[in-house]
Amino acid sequence: MAEKFDVAVIGAGAAGMMCAAVAAQGGKRVVLIDHAEKLAEKIRISGGGRCNFTNMNAGPANFLSENPHFCKSALSRYTPQDFLALVKKHRISYHEKHKGQLFCDESSEQIIQMLKAECAAGSVHWRMPCAVESVKGGGQSPEGAVPFLLQTSLGEIEAQAVVIATGALSIPKIGATDFAYRVAKQFGLNIVEPRPGLVPLTFDGPGWAPFVPLAGIALEVDVETGSRKAKGKKAGNYGHFREDLLFTHRGLSGPAILQISSYWEPGTPITINLLPEVDVAQELIEAKSTVKKQLGNILSQWMPARLAEGLLAATGLPADARLADMPDAKLRALGDAVNRWSIVPTGSEGYRKAEVTLGGVDTRELSQQTMMAQKVPGLYFIGEAVDVTGWLGGYNFQWAWASGVAAGQALASAA
Ligand code: FDA
Repeated sequence: MAEKFDVAVIGAGAAGMMCAAVAAQGGKRVVLIDHAEKLAEKIRISGGGRCNFTNMNAGPANFLSENPHFCKSALSRYTPQDFLALVKKHRISYHEKHKGQLFCDESSEQIIQMLKAECAAGSVHWRMPCAVESVKGGGQSPEGAVPFLLQTSLGEIEAQAVVIATGALSIPKIGATDFAYRVAKQFGLNIVEPRPGLVPLTFDGPGWAPFVPLAGIALEVDVETGSRKAKGKKAGNYGHFREDLLFTHRGLSGPAILQISSYWEPGTPITINLLPEVDVAQELIEAKSTVKKQLGNILSQWMPARLAEGLLAATGLPADARLADMPDAKLRALGDAVNRWSIVPTGSEGYRKAEVTLGGVDTRELSQQTMMAQKVPGLYFIGEAVDVTGWLGGYNFQWAWASGVAAGQALASAA
């Protein structure tokens, strides 16, 4: 005999726990199912172990989606201030680090315990570790709504509503799966092609050779990709950030690159201004008649010496060349290499290193108020499984909380 519940939430991560707690506190009998041995590993490892749990500036402009309007309703109904109120209620101390990012003072484990306590307050039932083998049923019959039937490794579960909160493909080694996409496809819902986001970019080939020895160098840069003037769908591919960049053994990383990676289209360049506060060509041309130094020494006033050497090698200029002997055209080319460095990444580090997955369940299939599939009453998708992806900096958790609350409230108020 199947055990009966009002709601089965599959995936006890950020969005799933939030949704289960809200629906259960609203009076529903809720079961929360997860296949992992350890609860909410992504929350645990997030923010370097301190969980960047929200961003005070989070708004629709900080999210990528084929439909940028979709996230507005949920984000405006559950704000960073709302989540912060919950954090304060649980007496978790926190601090703001950078650009509105809030972190726990102590440990991300506190956020996990907070969500667990909120689930307990609604008497959520747990099935964990528990694998869901199939989701059947749903829809309407002449007698009314047909319940969903889940086959799981811990027996059959019958539920009036099912919430898919199983996240996406990033970091498979801690249990990420394509479960949400499979269920969506099974019920005839469209998927926006998933791809890794917030991920280091890789480079190779002869053009990259001068930069290989620079691994470990970090500096603040401006980075952009796409065209600011593009219209229509392409306009969504324009990204611009001022953040730190890090040279790695295989390419580029650091917040600047993670942010731009979500906007980057394979085969196209990213453009980096390595010295956003210095117009290098202008400074060098103006200094030509008065400064007697070598090019390498001049550039090293503004950037790490190893990077200056790499850039001079890449532009074919000897580091010991004297500024006074350089034609203006060469100084302009050097200025371009520093202020408008345009490079085409070979690829990315993939899901193994990506903090998020772009794409997912097509938002056109879902209600923006409730997250329920328009074609399948009672079937909901929340969190990273949906085609809504935030920037780096607490935005992705804010989407997990907000979409979880939107679905949880809709479930609580359903008959
Ligand atoms: P989430 O991945 O949290 O949960 C999905 C759950 O479903 C998991 O518990 C999984 O075990 C379960 N599951 C999967 N398949 C299943 C199946 N077939 N059956 C049953 N259960 C299944 N964001 C942010 O805002 N601030 C930050 O500091 C960070 N830091 C960060 C660091 C790293 C290293 C990564 C990889 C990611 C981040 N993120 C982040 C992103 C953030 O972790 C992510 O966006 C949210 O966890 C997404 O929440 P979800 O609940 O949608 O999925």
